[in-house]
Amino acid sequence: MTSQRYTWTHRLDEVDLEELSRLYLLAPLGNKPPEALATVYRNSRYLCFVHAGDALVGAGRALADGVDCAYIADVAVHPEHQGRGLGSDIIRNLVDLANGHKKIILYAAPGTEDFYRGLGFLHMNTAMAIWADPRRAVAVGLLRPAE
Ligand SMILES: CC(C)(COP(=O)(O)OP(=O)(O)OC[C@H]1O[C@@H](n2cnc3c(N)ncnc32)[C@H](O)[C@@H]1OP(=O)(O)O)[C@@H](O)C(=O)NCCC(=O)NCCS
Repeated sequence: MTSQRYTWTHRLDEVDLEELSRLYLLAPLGNKPPEALATVYRNSRYLCFVHAGDALVGAGRALADGVDCAYIADVAVHPEHQGRGLGSDIIRNLVDLANGHKKIILYAAPGTEDFYRGLGFLHMNTAMAIWADPRRAVAVGLLRPAE
Protein backbone atom coordinates (compact mmCIF):
# COMPACT_ATOMS: atom_id res chain seq x y z
CA MET A 1 0.00 0.00 0.00
CA THR A 2 1.00 3.63 -0.51
CA SER A 3 1.75 6.11 2.27
CA GLN A 4 -0.32 6.09 5.46
CA ARG A 5 -1.62 9.60 4.77
CA TYR A 6 -4.26 8.14 2.47
CA THR A 7 -7.53 6.95 3.96
CA TRP A 8 -9.67 4.38 2.19
CA THR A 9 -13.40 3.84 2.24
CA HIS A 10 -15.80 1.54 0.41
CA ARG A 11 -18.88 3.56 1.39
CA LEU A 12 -20.62 5.81 -1.10
CA ASP A 13 -22.22 7.85 1.69
CA GLU A 14 -18.74 9.00 2.74
CA VAL A 15 -18.13 10.58 -0.67
CA ASP A 16 -19.20 13.94 -2.07
CA LEU A 17 -20.61 13.13 -5.53
CA GLU A 18 -19.84 16.63 -6.85
CA GLU A 19 -16.22 16.12 -5.80
CA LEU A 20 -16.20 12.66 -7.41
CA SER A 21 -17.47 14.20 -10.65
CA ARG A 22 -14.70 16.85 -10.49
CA LEU A 23 -12.10 14.12 -9.91
CA TYR A 24 -13.10 12.45 -13.21
CA LEU A 25 -12.88 15.76 -15.06
CA LEU A 26 -9.43 16.45 -13.61
CA ALA A 27 -7.93 12.93 -13.95
CA PRO A 28 -9.05 13.17 -16.84
CA LEU A 29 -11.63 10.46 -17.43
CA GLY A 30 -14.44 12.51 -18.90
CA ASN A 31 -17.64 14.23 -17.88
CA LYS A 32 -19.52 12.06 -15.38
CA PRO A 33 -22.39 14.01 -13.79
CA PRO A 34 -23.01 13.44 -10.03
CA GLU A 35 -26.48 11.90 -10.65
CA ALA A 36 -25.03 9.37 -13.11
CA LEU A 37 -22.22 8.56 -10.66
CA ALA A 38 -24.77 7.98 -7.89
CA THR A 39 -26.49 5.40 -10.13
CA VAL A 40 -23.42 3.56 -11.36
CA TYR A 41 -21.76 3.42 -7.92
CA ARG A 42 -24.98 2.30 -6.21
CA ASN A 43 -25.29 -0.48 -8.78
CA SER A 44 -21.68 -1.61 -8.38
CA ARG A 45 -20.82 -4.44 -6.00
CA TYR A 46 -17.35 -3.16 -5.03
CA LEU A 47 -16.50 0.49 -4.44
CA CYS A 48 -13.17 2.06 -3.61
CA PHE A 49 -12.46 5.68 -2.65
CA VAL A 50 -9.25 7.26 -1.39
CA HIS A 51 -8.95 10.56 0.48
CA ALA A 52 -5.86 12.63 1.27
CA GLY A 53 -7.03 14.60 4.27
CA ASP A 54 -10.50 15.82 3.27
CA ALA A 55 -9.80 15.70 -0.47
CA LEU A 56 -10.99 12.85 -2.66
CA VAL A 57 -7.95 11.80 -4.73
CA GLY A 58 -8.77 8.35 -6.07
CA ALA A 59 -11.76 6.19 -6.98
CA GLY A 60 -12.81 3.05 -8.76
CA ARG A 61 -15.58 0.47 -8.82
CA ALA A 62 -16.43 -3.02 -10.02
CA LEU A 63 -19.68 -4.56 -11.20
CA ALA A 64 -19.82 -8.24 -10.28
CA ASP A 65 -22.23 -11.18 -10.29
CA GLY A 66 -20.67 -12.90 -7.27
CA VAL A 67 -19.48 -16.03 -9.09
CA ASP A 68 -18.49 -15.69 -12.70
CA CYS A 69 -17.54 -12.21 -13.82
CA ALA A 70 -16.40 -8.91 -12.31
CA TYR A 71 -15.88 -5.78 -14.39
CA ILE A 72 -13.62 -2.98 -13.13
CA ALA A 73 -14.47 0.55 -14.27
CA ASP A 74 -13.97 4.25 -13.61
CA VAL A 75 -10.54 4.05 -11.97
CA ALA A 76 -9.03 7.51 -11.65
CA VAL A 77 -6.41 9.29 -9.56
CA HIS A 78 -6.13 13.05 -9.04
CA PRO A 79 -3.24 14.39 -11.20
CA GLU A 80 -1.39 15.71 -8.12
CA HIS A 81 -1.38 12.17 -6.70
CA GLN A 82 -0.64 10.19 -9.86
CA GLY A 83 2.63 8.29 -10.15
CA ARG A 84 2.77 7.36 -6.44
CA GLY A 85 1.30 3.88 -6.69
CA LEU A 86 -2.24 4.90 -5.79
CA GLY A 87 -3.83 3.77 -9.08
CA SER A 88 -2.11 0.39 -8.71
CA ASP A 89 -3.36 0.09 -5.13
CA ILE A 90 -6.95 0.87 -6.20
CA ILE A 91 -6.82 -1.83 -8.91
CA ARG A 92 -5.26 -4.33 -6.48
CA ASN A 93 -7.96 -3.53 -3.92
CA LEU A 94 -10.77 -4.08 -6.46
CA VAL A 95 -9.12 -7.29 -7.66
CA ASP A 96 -8.88 -8.48 -4.02
CA LEU A 97 -12.55 -7.64 -3.42
CA ALA A 98 -13.48 -9.56 -6.58
CA ASN A 99 -11.37 -12.55 -5.54
CA GLY A 100 -13.10 -15.83 -6.43
CA HIS A 101 -14.71 -14.62 -9.64
CA LYS A 102 -13.72 -16.73 -12.64
CA LYS A 103 -12.75 -13.63 -14.57
CA ILE A 104 -12.06 -9.99 -13.79
CA ILE A 105 -12.22 -7.83 -16.89
CA LEU A 106 -11.76 -4.19 -17.83
CA TYR A 107 -10.99 -2.13 -20.87
CA ALA A 108 -8.04 0.22 -20.75
CA ALA A 109 -8.15 3.84 -21.83
CA PRO A 110 -5.86 3.93 -24.89
CA GLY A 111 -2.31 4.44 -23.64
CA THR A 112 -2.84 2.81 -20.25
CA GLU A 113 -2.42 -0.80 -21.40
CA ASP A 114 1.06 -1.07 -19.84
CA PHE A 115 -0.32 0.08 -16.50
CA TYR A 116 -2.82 -2.83 -16.48
CA ARG A 117 -0.33 -5.32 -17.89
CA GLY A 118 1.92 -4.49 -14.94
CA LEU A 119 -0.95 -5.45 -12.64
CA GLY A 120 -1.39 -8.88 -14.21
CA PHE A 121 -4.06 -8.20 -16.85
CA LEU A 122 -3.68 -9.88 -20.25
CA HIS A 123 -5.22 -8.87 -23.57
CA MET A 124 -8.48 -10.65 -24.43
CA ASN A 125 -8.48 -12.08 -27.95
CA THR A 126 -12.19 -11.98 -28.59
CA ALA A 127 -13.53 -9.06 -26.52
CA MET A 128 -16.35 -7.25 -28.39
CA ALA A 129 -18.77 -4.53 -27.36
CA ILE A 130 -21.82 -2.55 -28.39
CA TRP A 131 -21.24 1.13 -27.64
CA ALA A 132 -23.96 3.78 -27.43
CA ASP A 133 -21.79 6.06 -29.60
CA PRO A 134 -19.64 3.68 -31.68
CA ARG A 135 -18.28 6.39 -33.99
CA ARG A 136 -16.80 8.30 -31.07
CA ALA A 137 -15.44 5.07 -29.55
CA VAL A 138 -13.69 4.31 -32.85
CA ALA A 139 -12.36 7.87 -33.03
CA VAL A 140 -10.75 7.69 -29.56
CA GLY A 141 -9.27 4.26 -30.20
CA LEU A 142 -11.53 2.12 -28.01
CA LEU A 143 -13.20 0.14 -30.81
CA ARG A 144 -12.05 -1.14 -34.20
CA PRO A 145 -14.49 -0.33 -37.01
CA ALA A 146 -16.24 -3.25 -38.71
CA GLU A 147 -14.18 -4.61 -41.60
C1 LIG B 1 -4.19 5.45 -15.05
C2 LIG B 1 -4.14 5.95 -13.59
C3 LIG B 1 -5.35 5.44 -12.83
C4 LIG B 1 -2.85 5.40 -12.96
O1 LIG B 1 -2.80 5.82 -11.59
P1 LIG B 1 -1.41 6.21 -10.90
O2 LIG B 1 -1.63 6.35 -9.45
O3 LIG B 1 -0.82 7.36 -11.63
O4 LIG B 1 -0.56 4.89 -11.25
P2 LIG B 1 0.63 4.27 -10.42
O5 LIG B 1 1.40 5.34 -9.73
O6 LIG B 1 0.10 3.17 -9.58
O7 LIG B 1 1.51 3.67 -11.62
C5 LIG B 1 1.86 2.32 -11.67
C6 LIG B 1 2.67 2.07 -12.91
O8 LIG B 1 1.89 2.30 -14.09
C7 LIG B 1 2.52 3.28 -14.91
N1 LIG B 1 1.48 4.14 -15.45
C8 LIG B 1 0.70 5.00 -14.76
N2 LIG B 1 -0.14 5.62 -15.60
C9 LIG B 1 0.12 5.15 -16.83
C10 LIG B 1 -0.40 5.42 -18.11
N3 LIG B 1 -1.37 6.31 -18.30
N4 LIG B 1 0.12 4.74 -19.16
C11 LIG B 1 1.11 3.83 -18.99
N5 LIG B 1 1.65 3.54 -17.79
C12 LIG B 1 1.16 4.19 -16.74
C13 LIG B 1 3.42 4.05 -13.98
O9 LIG B 1 4.50 4.62 -14.71
C14 LIG B 1 3.87 2.98 -13.02
O10 LIG B 1 4.92 2.22 -13.59
P3 LIG B 1 6.16 1.77 -12.68
O11 LIG B 1 5.56 0.91 -11.61
O12 LIG B 1 7.01 1.06 -13.65
O13 LIG B 1 6.71 3.05 -12.15
C15 LIG B 1 -4.07 7.51 -13.51
O14 LIG B 1 -2.94 7.94 -14.24
C16 LIG B 1 -5.31 8.21 -14.02
O15 LIG B 1 -6.22 8.48 -13.26
N6 LIG B 1 -5.31 8.53 -15.33
C17 LIG B 1 -6.46 9.23 -15.93
C18 LIG B 1 -7.71 8.37 -15.94
C19 LIG B 1 -7.48 7.03 -16.63
O16 LIG B 1 -6.90 6.93 -17.71
N7 LIG B 1 -7.97 5.96 -15.96
C20 LIG B 1 -7.88 4.62 -16.47
C21 LIG B 1 -9.14 4.31 -17.20
S1 LIG B 1 -9.01 2.77 -18.03
